[in-house]
Amino acid sequence: MLIKAEFQCSNTHWKKCPEGDLPEFSFIGRSNVGKSSLINAMANNKKLAKTSSTPGKTRLINHFLINKKWFLVDLPGYGYAKVSKKSRRGWSGMSADYLLNREKLMCTFVLIDIRLTPQKIDLDFLNWCGENQVPIAIIFTKADKVKAFELQENIKAFENKMLENWEDLPTRFISSSVKRLGLEEITEFIENTVKRLSADKK
Ligand code: GTP
Ligand code: MG
Repeated sequence: MLIKAEFQCSNTHWKKCPEGDLPEFSFIGRSNVGKSSLINAMANNKKLAKTSSTPGKTRLINHFLINKKWFLVDLPGYGYAKVSKKSRRGWSGMSADYLLNREKLMCTFVLIDIRLTPQKIDLDFLNWCGENQVPIAIIFTKADKVKAFELQENIKAFENKMLENWEDLPTRFISSSVKRLGLEEITEFIENTVKRLSADKK
């Protein structure tokens, strides 16, 4: 699926983000989980969003206009311990305020590094989304880094942990920006949501 992506703007506050009524879809997750890389892979443009092997790269709310129809929003990651307490609060506060207040936000994709065992910080964040009725889907990232059986085992372990708190699991995707896995499914999910929204409006 071909998508045309253009960088639109970076902001420190949800109120300063683009006006108008284009729907938005955001990517969030721990620092270094691969949010910016996934945006670049979906857009087939390695230079679109800034990526880094050092965590804490994305520090602003970044809007990318896709196919002139919707925004993909790259958010600062959570859980990066090395930044000062003040700026840590600033980043997570920025993302949290955006998630809680942005009316055009249709779905937030929570990215989970599938190489790891279930992490408390991710489970806590997902619970926070649930408690605050932030609509979410999950993307298990870096699937190229694990063997097929390990991938399935780690996903099962994560889902089982989630089921301790959740009655139904949100939609889940598996991705690899390196192997270009899952990109079409994610794009299609978004495009279908956008289509449904515009059909509802008519
Ligand atoms: P912050 O902006 O710091 O919150 O991080 P981020 O979540 O945007 O991560 P980013 O996309 O910058 O990627 C972090 C590191 O993981 C980089 O070194 C990427 O090359 C690597 N990476 C991202 N996605 C993948 C993937 O699917 N497979 C592999 N093998 N590496 C990946
Ligand atoms: Mg980033």
